[in-house]
Amino acid sequence: MKTRWYKDAFFYQIYPRSFCDGNGDGIGDLRGIISKLDYIKDLGVNAVWLSPCYKSPNDDNGYDISDYRDIMDEFGTMEDFDELIAGLHARGIRLIMDLVVNHTSDEHWWFKESRSSKANPYRDYYYWRKGRGKNGKRPPNNWMSNFLGPAWKYEESTDEWYMHIFSYKQPDLNWNNPKVRQEVADICNFWFEKGVDGFRCDVITYISKKHGLPNGKIKLPLIGFEQYCLTENYHKFIKEVADKSWNRYDTTIVGEAMGITSANAPQYIDESVGELDCVFAFEHTNCDRYTQILPHKLSIKKLKSIFARWQALPQTCMPTLFFENHDQPRCVPRFVGYDCGEYRDKAAKMLPVALYMQRGVPFVFQGQELGMSDIPIGKEGEVWRDGKPVRAILKEEEVFKDILSVNAMKMFRKRAPFLMGIVKKVLKKVARDHARTPMQWSDAPNAGFCPKDVEPWMIVNPDYKIVNVAAEQNDKDSLLNYYRKLIDYRKNSECIKNGSFKEFYADSNKIYVYQRQDADTTIAVVCNFTKKETPFTLPQEWSNNNAECKLSNYDDARPLASGTLRPFEASVYEWHRH
Ligand code: NOJ
Repeated sequence: MKTRWYKDAFFYQIYPRSFCDGNGDGIGDLRGIISKLDYIKDLGVNAVWLSPCYKSPNDDNGYDISDYRDIMDEFGTMEDFDELIAGLHARGIRLIMDLVVNHTSDEHWWFKESRSSKANPYRDYYYWRKGRGKNGKRPPNNWMSNFLGPAWKYEESTDEWYMHIFSYKQPDLNWNNPKVRQEVADICNFWFEKGVDGFRCDVITYISKKHGLPNGKIKLPLIGFEQYCLTENYHKFIKEVADKSWNRYDTTIVGEAMGITSANAPQYIDESVGELDCVFAFEHTNCDRYTQILPHKLSIKKLKSIFARWQALPQTCMPTLFFENHDQPRCVPRFVGYDCGEYRDKAAKMLPVALYMQRGVPFVFQGQELGMSDIPIGKEGEVWRDGKPVRAILKEEEVFKDILSVNAMKMFRKRAPFLMGIVKKVLKKVARDHARTPMQWSDAPNAGFCPKDVEPWMIVNPDYKIVNVAAEQNDKDSLLNYYRKLIDYRKNSECIKNGSFKEFYADSNKIYVYQRQDADTTIAVVCNFTKKETPFTLPQEWSNNNAECKLSNYDDARPLASGTLRPFEASVYEWHRH
């Protein structure tokens, strides 16, 4: 049944709330996406990952689902969805949806039933436990929520606590219950029957909790992590859903996979395992963080070594290639620095070359192709007050909307106000909000995301006057057109998709140099991660070739030879045996 089409896929991720507002309420929606299908097609991608669009009270922007078989009111109707999928398929683009089944919303009817009484048949769909201590007034164990605070909430009516690894409005499903597993398989099949081509499975490595729910080690960033991530029944649960659903259709299943690393990946994603096809792992996006939270300066060498470990996996284990998603800050400021000044354009064009010429399934997050940036906290921008836009200095309290940022500020303000300065400094670098500002379509008010007299659900990045689709469409040298070229090149190259990988100068903290090769073709990729001219000696194997430059962020690309790489230069050369 499975053609493993992900091997030829180039994905574009859409965060519907921020992509395009089709009905003028300041919130992105399905009609908005439909109106931009040609834009997506022209980018050259052939697959879309759509973040959740199911019914949801939006405590966590759709990652809290109250009905898995219906569309969020703000996003439109099932008819809109049908039109969206037909429009994508008509353009040769596949669609994977987000499958959020570690938890539901507390407004899902299963949970409403579950909380109603201890005897309710749905009680066991979730984790309910007695509290610890005298009177049971302490949570059942010491696990921490990924959104801060304890991972349990007390319910007076039945005198028990329920587990929530995320917000208290996202109760964890009890996958030990076979009915829950059947429900998940049924939900997937419902969407496959509608023509959906796969899923990105949200925090899928959390679905199995250690028997007895023992206390976790006191260890940052998350107490309890080792007790609910990839524990004993993980394979059993996944296999069951795969057998009953995923493997019966021609799907691609991508797992969001905290806990999976290049070292253990084969046991989870090797083709022979028959579970997930590939995973989003976070070694590289954590390599500029202490304990996954506190930002520090990026070591290029470390980033490269993580890439190299994933590239070294057997052909039957497919890495994913991504810098951004709706949970990560924007990649240009993050990976090449805020101060690349006159070289910003070069740097923005270097990053995708470094990343997407590797082996793996590539993902571009909306706006990445334009070079969208983090929210410039502390600088001037446009905020809406009393229904009107006003110029103001952008402050965290006013512009951050994400539950995680909001919880962090609330908690520290209450418990440790003296740390607020640090909290804000950290959020400025790591907040998920940075990825969620509206897509910048033009230099019209609200960046063309929604009508000018409507308040967008989140502030528009003030750089939209320059960084926007309309401006970049018309500029042949724009980042957008560079992404198009790169995607086109990659899509048509068997060598990039399947060739071997070999790195040179792994010890360098400045340049990233690697080769892709198959029987006929060799591709040389040379990237300078610094704003200085950097010496480059041609690897022995690359001499004596008739290398053709296929892609470069410098107009006057030089022949592949020893010398120097210019600031943030990224060039790709190709030659053939026959
Ligand atoms: C991971 C998602 O990407 C994130 O946005 C969400 O908050 C959590 N999972 C909880 O569903």
